[in-house]
Amino acid sequence: MQTEKVIETYNHGAADYEAIMLRYWHVEREPLIASLELSPGQTVLDAAVGTGLNLPAYPEGVSVTGIDLSHEMLNQARAKPVSAQVTLKLADLQQLDLSDDSFDAAASGFTFCVVNDPVRSLQEMLRVTKAGALIAILDYCKSRDPEIQKWQELIADAASQVGFPTNKIKWNALMDYDSLIYHSNLPIEVLQDVRIESQNPFSCGCQLLLRNAKG
Ligand SMILES: C[S@@+](CC[C@H](N)C(=O)[O-])C[C@H]1O[C@@H](n2cnc3c(N)ncnc32)[C@H](O)[C@@H]1O
Repeated sequence: MQTEKVIETYNHGAADYEAIMLRYWHVEREPLIASLELSPGQTVLDAAVGTGLNLPAYPEGVSVTGIDLSHEMLNQARAKPVSAQVTLKLADLQQLDLSDDSFDAAASGFTFCVVNDPVRSLQEMLRVTKAGALIAILDYCKSRDPEIQKWQELIADAASQVGFPTNKIKWNALMDYDSLIYHSNLPIEVLQDVRIESQNPFSCGCQLLLRNAKG
């Protein structure tokens, strides 16, 4: 999705975002963040933090930088109860104004199915995290089942152009994690790749744990 369209959609949808996620795409965030095995004093990037659904799961003593393109999503995130030290910034994940090797870990929820360029976004996450850093990803994704893929193809235009609900949440219904993780030649080690397959083309997902394998 083009950047302007992302900003417009998520600014417009911000107030209703969590009610929609709870109704259609609810996933507990604690296991995702726990998989990073964070210790006090560590730094973590929350990539496209949105309304901050991950934020309450970060432990005390950890410093979290949450970035997003939508200021209305960030405004919702500011109201979250948190134990960690949280900084929220308006930024484009595809072009981060952050130094190399700034973070001990990174997380993202439902991000790569929305960004314009998933490979570029993961490249940036690898650049700003340290070698060996863990990266935890939770997302909607393209099914590996060709029958379900056909239904995802059917909803793809509406999901990315019209949204569901209209103009409030838009995403790439064909977000291909096999391409991103296994065929992009990015320096990653895949530690965990759990796919959530469903007969419902709206409900296919994945939870991944990667290690930054840059030299
Ligand atoms: C489906 S929401 C996910 C929000 C949150 N991570 C969560 O788990 O609920 C997608 C978010 O990605 C943000 N986004 C999309 N493209 C982005 C980009 N290039 N840089 C930063 N944020 C982006 C949107 O503004 C939106 O807040």
